[in-house]
Amino acid sequence: MALDQNLKERLRSDRAEALITTAEEAAKLIKDGMVVGVSGFTPSGYPKAVPVALAERANNGDKFQIDLYSGASLGPEIDTMMVEAGIIKKRLPYHTNPTIRKAINAGQVQYIDMHLSQSPQYVNMGFLPKPEVAIVEAIAITEEGNLILTTAVGNTPTFVKHADTVIVEIAMKKPMALEGMHDIYITENPPHRKPINICKADDRIGTTYVECGWDKIKAIVISDYIDKTRPLAEVTETEKKISDNILKFLANEVAEGRLGKSLLPIQSGVGSVANAVLYGLCESEYENLTCYTEVIQDSMLDLIRCGKALKASTTSISPSPEGQIKFFEDIEFFKDKIIFRPEEISNNPEVARRLSVIAMNTALEVDIYGNVNSTHVQGKKIMNGIGGSGDFSRNAGISIFTTSSIAKEGLISSIVPMCPHVDHTEHEVMVIVTEQGYADLRGLSPKERAVKIIENCAHPDYKDMLMDYFNRACAEAPCQTPHILDEALSWHSRFEKTGSMK
Ligand code: COA
Repeated sequence: MALDQNLKERLRSDRAEALITTAEEAAKLIKDGMVVGVSGFTPSGYPKAVPVALAERANNGDKFQIDLYSGASLGPEIDTMMVEAGIIKKRLPYHTNPTIRKAINAGQVQYIDMHLSQSPQYVNMGFLPKPEVAIVEAIAITEEGNLILTTAVGNTPTFVKHADTVIVEIAMKKPMALEGMHDIYITENPPHRKPINICKADDRIGTTYVECGWDKIKAIVISDYIDKTRPLAEVTETEKKISDNILKFLANEVAEGRLGKSLLPIQSGVGSVANAVLYGLCESEYENLTCYTEVIQDSMLDLIRCGKALKASTTSISPSPEGQIKFFEDIEFFKDKIIFRPEEISNNPEVARRLSVIAMNTALEVDIYGNVNSTHVQGKKIMNGIGGSGDFSRNAGISIFTTSSIAKEGLISSIVPMCPHVDHTEHEVMVIVTEQGYADLRGLSPKERAVKIIENCAHPDYKDMLMDYFNRACAEAPCQTPHILDEALSWHSRFEKTGSMK
């Protein structure tokens, strides 16, 4: 088959042609019991054609199961279709998909919820079985057989390094102009690990390609699939109030002289609150902002477009479908402003601490002393996972957690006496923000924190109940962190029994 000009630009060696095959043929390289690593981070940059073929193979009666590693959450071709086909036995390090969530909570899929920056280290240091096969979305393969990735890096460099077999999906619908935006660097294992020499969001330390080589590449699939990114959700009144309270907090930091007009590099989780905060920054007086984060959404692109933000470091870009089209149209503008890094680097604790990022992440619930549960509903059922929130919050200059003060139309208080699961402890949670206000916990003792959180952040329907609990706990024993153990989780058990925490 003669390669057309577009394909020739993407497959730059004569060796590529013989490896071009169908997704169905490539899928046959994956056998029962294998560990498979895939590219992608959020519904961005993940392989699609081979996962669909794998699901079809299983649905046609070929029963097999694999352990699947990724960068983070992925699109429905994997976390819906492959799960429904019963292929995934074990999954890590993160997900956000309702189908796999249900399967995990029903005990059908084993899930390891990990700090994202640590997930490649678990593979590199042999704590996890190494992936035998890597399936990678790329825009191109260089003459030497190295891979130019697309809109996410995630853990791909590590998976490719360890896999014996690499299947490449060439994403024909993604622009070649992405080439040059990646900065690929793999850390050495201890004791040989070197300092990561990133002192500004846009410092470069690596290569623009993932080292692979022709010996590993066993199949190339030409793909017309596009990422199934999520549509932008409308910002609710509550989310707008939370975002306004974050902006109020930041303005106060500037007024007090603890932050300058360029703030510090921003890390923001995904979702409507993050979008609303960043849109708020577009209209602010801040200037020369930078961003050191793991995912870029529409609002960050607009912050760069409007000139408020200069540079952004990320491992993935995951805008809405319209935002993705606009990003590709404007790619030449963004080319020297956005850097895609492996998640070990985009989320690296050493770098987050050096840059002193402002970390903004979301809690499901917060206890009166400032411990945060971001992952487990009622302490038992996984929602999504910790993602990168712990990588950043524990090492941030300022770590902010947001939540609505109530959930399920007020039947749940998101401020509780004790969290039945804790992801982020009182030691790293600095500021709690709800639609009611914000509580700056820095420099406060646990008992001072409790009063501030209840007064500033709790919903009026639950304020008196929380203060009553706190006062009685203090009366019982005014120790470091007063609790009445028989009662501390009674709000959660009451919700289970009656459907309400009231
Ligand atoms: N108890 C029980 N359920 C709760 C709850 C609580 N205290 N608080 C929220 N919920 C439910 C909501 O009702 C909603 O349920 P639904 O899907 O049935 O409507 C669901 O949890 C999601 O809540 P929502 O208010 O829509 O928040 P969100 O979409 O912003 O998600 C997290 C919040 C915490 C689940 C999400 O931010 C997350 O997974 N965070 C951890 C990972 C992370 O921080 N990643 C970014 C790092 S860069």
